[in-house]
Amino acid sequence: MPLICVCSPKGGVGKTTLTANLAYALSRAGSKVLAIDFDVQNALRLHFGVPLSDTRGFVAKATENADWSPFVLTTGGNLFVLPYGETTESQRVAFDERLTQDEHFLSRGLSTLLNYPGLVVIADFPPGPSPALKAISRLADLHLIPLMADTASLSLLPYIENHRLTGEELNQKAGHYFVVNQSDNRRQISRDVTGFMEQRLGDRLLGVIHRDESVVEANASQQSIFDFSPVSAAAFDIELISKKIAGILGVNVGDGVVHNDLRPGF
Ligand SMILES: Nc1ncnc2c1ncn2[C@@H]1O[C@H](COP(=O)(O)OP(=O)(O)O)[C@@H](O)[C@H]1O
Ligand SMILES: [Mg+2]
Repeated sequence: MPLICVCSPKGGVGKTTLTANLAYALSRAGSKVLAIDFDVQNALRLHFGVPLSDTRGFVAKATENADWSPFVLTTGGNLFVLPYGETTESQRVAFDERLTQDEHFLSRGLSTLLNYPGLVVIADFPPGPSPALKAISRLADLHLIPLMADTASLSLLPYIENHRLTGEELNQKAGHYFVVNQSDNRRQISRDVTGFMEQRLGDRLLGVIHRDESVVEANASQQSIFDFSPVSAAAFDIELISKKIAGILGVNVGDGVVHNDLRPGF
């Protein structure tokens, strides 16, 4: 498999940006990667060049289709995305209800994908607890929690440590790790919070990502930070984090060759 969940109690901390750019980094290193969007905002697909007008996704049909793999979109090379898609309010509610009531609903929907040999799956979530995060957490190999270099994020550490994100201890397999995003050396509070997080989290802090305008511009142009600004500070930071994740999960980053052999449905 391996399955990575990118989640955080806070919105706007860079979950979607990090999910997309880690997917790019891991695929550039030779892995076949699938990015899944569990956020009704349906924004993850925009990071992979899917047009705003393309509303396809898996949630609207998830309760009728036992297997969600036919909804995966190819974005080129080794990279695939399963968008949330546009839904009606009743489709969204039905999806969340099934996630809550049927403990096999999610594992059945993702079973083909999670069993695909060598595929790295990285999932993006809405802020805070959600039925999808709760349902997927037991299958996950690693939880990655982006926070900002601010006091609001700092105040949420006890919330996370008290298992409030999923109602149970975060990752039992490879563990749960943090990333401090938008760290800004020019601001005293940002330096202080980053320093405190480094001390408090130790090895659980996988990396610190600089606040970098290239990230905003890369997002606006629907490109990865590696394509838009390969020598930027953020590209360097995210690449380093992706290498640590690959190391923790024992992902074979392969030969850097793009394997474009797609099976039907992809
Ligand atoms: N390292 C960074 N430097 C500057 N801006 C960033 C950085 N990471 C994310 N952003 C910006 O922060 C905003 C929120 O990011 P997003 O990934 O949508 O967060 P979330 O998914 O947690 O809500 C976006 O406008 C994004 O471009
Ligand atoms: Mg998001």
